[in-house]
Amino acid sequence: MLYESVLDELVEHRDLSDEALATLLSCNDGEVEEELHSRAREFAVSRFGHEVYLRGLVEWSNVCRNDCLYCGIRRSNPGVSRYTLTKEEILSCAERIYDEGIRTIVLQSGENPSSALSLAGVVSEIKSSWPDVAVTLGLGELPFSTYATLRSDGADRFLLRHETANPSHYARLHPAGMSLEHRLECLSELRRLGFQTGMGMMVGSPYQSVCDLVADIRLIQSFRPEMIGIGPFVPQKDTPFGSFPPGSPVLTLKLYSILRIMLPNALIPSTTALATVLQGGCSRGILAGANVVMPYFTPAAQREAYHLYDNKSSGQLSAIKQELASIGYRANLSRGDYQAE
Ligand code: 5AD
Repeated sequence: MLYESVLDELVEHRDLSDEALATLLSCNDGEVEEELHSRAREFAVSRFGHEVYLRGLVEWSNVCRNDCLYCGIRRSNPGVSRYTLTKEEILSCAERIYDEGIRTIVLQSGENPSSALSLAGVVSEIKSSWPDVAVTLGLGELPFSTYATLRSDGADRFLLRHETANPSHYARLHPAGMSLEHRLECLSELRRLGFQTGMGMMVGSPYQSVCDLVADIRLIQSFRPEMIGIGPFVPQKDTPFGSFPPGSPVLTLKLYSILRIMLPNALIPSTTALATVLQGGCSRGILAGANVVMPYFTPAAQREAYHLYDNKSSGQLSAIKQELASIGYRANLSRGDYQAE
């Protein structure tokens, strides 16, 4: 196979030239994809065995001050019925997660600085009730003082996708006033505060080029985040990008594999967005080198209102466990912190 030497080089040097990366991302050959996934899987299995970390996800508020052009819960979407769970409701979701044996609780919401600050009390209560859980937050860009409060109240990890490493592409995806530069400052601050930090991007977002994806890989290589969140863009009909086509699941899977080989210890989720655009996407992601899945524990009444995109996959714990079993993997419920090499 012509690509054999490219894959050999990727595995040996855990890197590739820009040109080779662009070629690998653009090539359309099932055999090459299979070989790439199988090499990535070897890296994952040698570190994690046939096990996948589960994280219990609670989408605790869909109120958002932001207006990202791709996102279904953007401020200017009037079709969303807005909710914020009470402290008691969040704690009861956390309890359900704990009772399932899962030891990472992910609290995700729209960007809302005042309620994010009040979440600090919930974080400290979770940590004092269940000291053996890790709390991961995904709350967007916040004042650094709020990040600091959340960290000192016990939050362990923070997910903040960079969305694209190309500043002009970033500007086309986001409202005026937002910048890649500030996003990266937030990520550096989160790391400085001692959070395990996650970054990532959508694949196939409007106006994205292969060159942009190569830049994303370079940024991830240089920041070396503990977690890497990547999913295909999925259009949401009430957004300005509602009529753009979805991103390619095949390309998404290739990125999981390339990044698994480059950063073998990274925590890489097989995302809900992937499962939304690809039948069996959850297991396909794992077989391409991902090692995390995030089942939902958002109460059913609110789940419908947390749609960043259309036709969102169900993400139910039982279905996920079944899908993992069908490929010979099992759930690892432990905290699953990042382990440095
Ligand atoms: N399609 C896919 N992913 C999306 N996100 C937001 N909107 C969409 C969409 N339409 C992703 C962004 C964000 C994360 C919380 O969800 O990457 O960082």
